Amino acid sequence: MTTTPPGVATKLAEYRQEHLLQWWDELSAEQQNSLAAQIESIDFATVQRVWQESPNAAASLDAGVDRVQQSAAPKAVVLQPSSEADEAQWQRAAEAGTHLLADGKVAVITVAGGQGSRLGFAHPKGMFPIGPNSSRSLFQVFAEQILARKRRHGGEIPWLIMTSSATHSETIKFFEQHDYWGFDRNTVAFFQQGSMPAVDASSGRVLMSAPGVICLSPDGHGGLVTALKSSGLLDRMAKEGIESFFYHQVDNPTVIMCDPALVGLHTLNDSQLTTNVVKKQHPMEPMGVLVDIDGHVEIIEYSELDEQQAAGKDASGQWVFWAGNTAIHMFSLTFLEQLTTGDGQLELHVARKSVDHIDTEGKLIQTSDLNANKFERFIFDALPLATTALIVEGNREREFNPVKNADGNDSPATSRGALSRIGREWLATAGHSVPETATVEISPLTALDAKELASSLADGRVTVGELIKSPAEK
Ligand code: UTP
Repeated sequence: MTTTPPGVATKLAEYRQEHLLQWWDELSAEQQNSLAAQIESIDFATVQRVWQESPNAAASLDAGVDRVQQSAAPKAVVLQPSSEADEAQWQRAAEAGTHLLADGKVAVITVAGGQGSRLGFAHPKGMFPIGPNSSRSLFQVFAEQILARKRRHGGEIPWLIMTSSATHSETIKFFEQHDYWGFDRNTVAFFQQGSMPAVDASSGRVLMSAPGVICLSPDGHGGLVTALKSSGLLDRMAKEGIESFFYHQVDNPTVIMCDPALVGLHTLNDSQLTTNVVKKQHPMEPMGVLVDIDGHVEIIEYSELDEQQAAGKDASGQWVFWAGNTAIHMFSLTFLEQLTTGDGQLELHVARKSVDHIDTEGKLIQTSDLNANKFERFIFDALPLATTALIVEGNREREFNPVKNADGNDSPATSRGALSRIGREWLATAGHSVPETATVEISPLTALDAKELASSLADGRVTVGELIKSPAEK
């Protein structure tokens, strides 16, 4: 039996969480060390404050109504090109972006700490086999995109991957197994986001899933801000001359990694935070939308809008809530540094969830009741903090095909279908029509776009047959 580490019992007593040590004497030394580390990682003062504030849900709903009423369609927007002048603007931006990439001024941030519960895949989502023919993983698609960009533009592109305690070790093992797909390991960095405990919604007591194990989960993609700073990566990137970050989520294989036009538009407009948006397909589509509120860009969550509000139009006849967030952003390094000053944290949001836990006798309670509060930070809460934010319309079919759910919308089937459709379109541009029933998969190392594919085919670097599978072969 070991006594509890100094300070732990006092800290727990201060926040009325002494029950976390109830089984201390029955734990092995290893379990005790692990529990002490879990307790150490929790900011109990914040947990207590947010839990105490959470019963005011009604008040925050009222605030939500006001936000919706004050919303206007965003103003600082660059739409997809529809005229020669637009084309020229996009071209200039792409050239500027190309220079920045060649000069090594841009790093990639992949947020890969989520638990992917809707997909129900038993591993980190980045390991999901998405390639329609090869089953290459999401991580491999991104790795090949970055390698292809480096090859095309010549500059170094550091790759920063945010993991969580739920995904960290398996992700690193996966990269090791694949020999980092040929990356110089010094240019890839993994850093872990923080965790937050689940608390019993009525008492505020932190829940445990077993005697030495606290119910902890990642603190949301907004945990990025603190994690980048505390890992030392933000300072390292500044020293290495990085000026901006291309931010994307681990679930969208059709993202145009480091899109030179987006990189260029961000920099030419002196933007602190630039967001790629797409037009919502119908008013009630479950996507967060960007709006202007009181001179700031903010996100309105789809759950904040009723049907009538979601379809609301402004004086020009345009939907107010059209600009769906694809979660592809550019961040200026100086803006991220600014966010890390003060307490350096984005606001916590509370969600009521079902969380299995042990009771006071140590018995496992499996529940479908919404018994617990979980806490998360959202990266888009950085938007209103930017004094210069830019919104850029993306091409939805080309760049936004995420894997969120096991079936239906935004599922592996729709995302693989999109990869294959894009491949067929590029082949058609190169003069090779393939039947719709054939699945096509183009490695980013073969081509990053239709033009590159056409020249790879013309040079004989690849053949059409290598890129397609007909149904009989599947
Ligand atoms: P989602 O909001 O889709 O959450 O994350 P999720 O955890 O992946 O999936 P569900 O909701 O449990 O089904 C969007 C992106 O943010 C990352 C995810 O890895 C994904 O790239 N993320 C999310 C984090 O990095 N950390 C988090 O704590 C949450």
